[in-house]
Amino acid sequence: MRFTVAIDGPAAAGKGTISRAVAEHFGFAWLDTGSLYRAVGVKALEIGRGVIDPAVAAQVAAHLQEHDLNRDDLRTARAGQAASKVAALPEVRAALLDFQKAFARREGGAVLDGRDIGTVICPEAEVKIYVTASDDVRAERRWKELRENNPDLSLEQVRADLAARDARDALRDTAPMRAAPDALLLDTTKLSIDAAVAEAIALIQKRIG
Ligand code: DC
Repeated sequence: MRFTVAIDGPAAAGKGTISRAVAEHFGFAWLDTGSLYRAVGVKALEIGRGVIDPAVAAQVAAHLQEHDLNRDDLRTARAGQAASKVAALPEVRAALLDFQKAFARREGGAVLDGRDIGTVICPEAEVKIYVTASDDVRAERRWKELRENNPDLSLEQVRADLAARDARDALRDTAPMRAAPDALLLDTTKLSIDAAVAEAIALIQKRIG
């Protein structure tokens, strides 16, 4: 059976948590596509000693290895910013396209979360969900997550970081962050994780029949 669940939305809206839970519930494979861009971003920064060269980033994306995705520094704010920068490069996106498309249509069902899954990677997805939450709620969630490893980080810094990323991700020319016209909007501002997951599961169950 091929069945794709496309989950898009801005950073810290709850996509990752919902995607993981949905994949587990239905026994589908899960791909956090943000981790691909994060891996390219940190590796390109490393090679460029703090500076991202677009040609280097494209090379890194074309030769991404499994172990690049298992680094333990991919969830940092620095990796998030680097990811957002390399994600604006058409060559980087092109290099990561086939892998994501194949993953989406793999046998046994797949959940992918990102920014362009329902619009570019898999417009034919059986279920599309666009997860949002208010800027304040997203900043607070991400701050709580990041300050475990970085106690000096301020809420203001996180808020500014997310705003910069949102703007870059939404305004770029290639595959901007956008809800597909047929996506269900899931606003998690006032929803508990359990309630958001339950809503996503109900929608998918309805489509499976
Ligand atoms: O979901 P995330 O925060 O891990 O994503 C990190 C960055 O990667 C995000 O700011 C934009 C980019 N990204 C993208 O452009 N397209 C995707 N499908 C996933 C992530």
